[in-house]
Amino acid sequence: HQGPGLVVAIDGTSGSGKSSTSRGVATRLGLRYLDTGAMFRAMTWWMLQHGVDVHDPAAVAARVEEPSIASGTDPQAPTIAVDDADVAGPIRSDAVNAAVSPVSAVPAVRSRLLRLQREVIAAAGDGIVVEGRDIGSVVAPDAPVKVYLSADPAARAARRAAEVGAADVAATRESLLARDRIDSGRATAPLVMADGAVHIDTTPYSLDEVIGLVVDLVEAVEARA
Ligand code: DC
Repeated sequence: HQGPGLVVAIDGTSGSGKSSTSRGVATRLGLRYLDTGAMFRAMTWWMLQHGVDVHDPAAVAARVEEPSIASGTDPQAPTIAVDDADVAGPIRSDAVNAAVSPVSAVPAVRSRLLRLQREVIAAAGDGIVVEGRDIGSVVAPDAPVKVYLSADPAARAARRAAEVGAADVAATRESLLARDRIDSGRATAPLVMADGAVHIDTTPYSLDEVIGLVVDLVEAVEARA
């Protein structure tokens, strides 16, 4: 590659298999990996820790510059730290799940994290797989490979519940759907299928099959370059 590295943008709904797919693709292709959802979760966790009312956009906006948020981009061992503390566990809590969509809808949160995301992408060397909701549309609109992943809600809830060991699949399903509604409906950088994105409904496929489909797409683009 000449100049900035390859960017593979992977967007989609909660529980569509974005993280496992993105890590698998990055591992197979020797690329870095950035989980932007973890950055929004880290910001949300910090707001909750500091007693900020997450349903008050002005209160959230007033404090967005305070936390330092650092993402480690090894696809086999990604990390997320806030003010130098590892928060990989706490950012997956129910409290963060319930607060992350409203926090992510605050424009000041998005612009602060957009800056950080672009710094990580610029430092990624050969290339990076970036996953989120607005990667192909806002964060990296020039990415040569854009993928939009979806899956039917029952499949998503079953997968997510298994991942986190939740017994209540129905509650998991409601939590996923509630986040989708907010993420798709917000004014700033909503979840959309970006121009030029390839849509993969992952419902009928295994993880390895989806990884293979995306790797094929990347290799086809590389072959044309
Ligand atoms: O990918 P995830 O489920 O960990 O993301 C958690 C939340 O973060 C998601 O519900 C909305 C927000 N998010 C976002 O607004 N933009 C992104 N690029 C990534 C995540």
